[in-house]
Amino acid sequence: MTFVVTENCIKCKFTDCVDVCPVDCFHEGPNFLVIDPDECIDCSLCEPECPADAIFSEDEVPTEQQSFIELNRELSKLWPVITEVQKPEKDADEWKGKPDKLQHLKR
Ligand code: SF4
Ligand code: F3S
Repeated sequence: MTFVVTENCIKCKFTDCVDVCPVDCFHEGPNFLVIDPDECIDCSLCEPECPADAIFSEDEVPTEQQSFIELNRELSKLWPVITEVQKPEKDADEWKGKPDKLQHLKR
């Protein structure tokens, strides 16, 4: 079992999640974070930390966001680990909760 970062992280990237992860399994892209499913120990600490409610346990990912399970796996192998909290994306508060953000994902 792993936790998964879903669509609402895109263009927000608050990074609060990074601070609590005991095994450094978050990886950073230009405007999105992902979790390496091979490293996540399923501790659930990150889930309540996300101001955008973007993190779900794998078995609770909403139906329309199922593709993010594979996307986390794929991108975590390509992107570097992030261990320090950073400033959120510009306009992160305005993008929080907006629909159809997948089109804005930068790789
Ligand atoms: Fe890290 Fe725990 Fe979140 Fe997995 S569930 S990403 S181990 S904080
Ligand atoms: Fe993204 Fe939420 Fe972490 S917006 S960077 S999953 S705190």
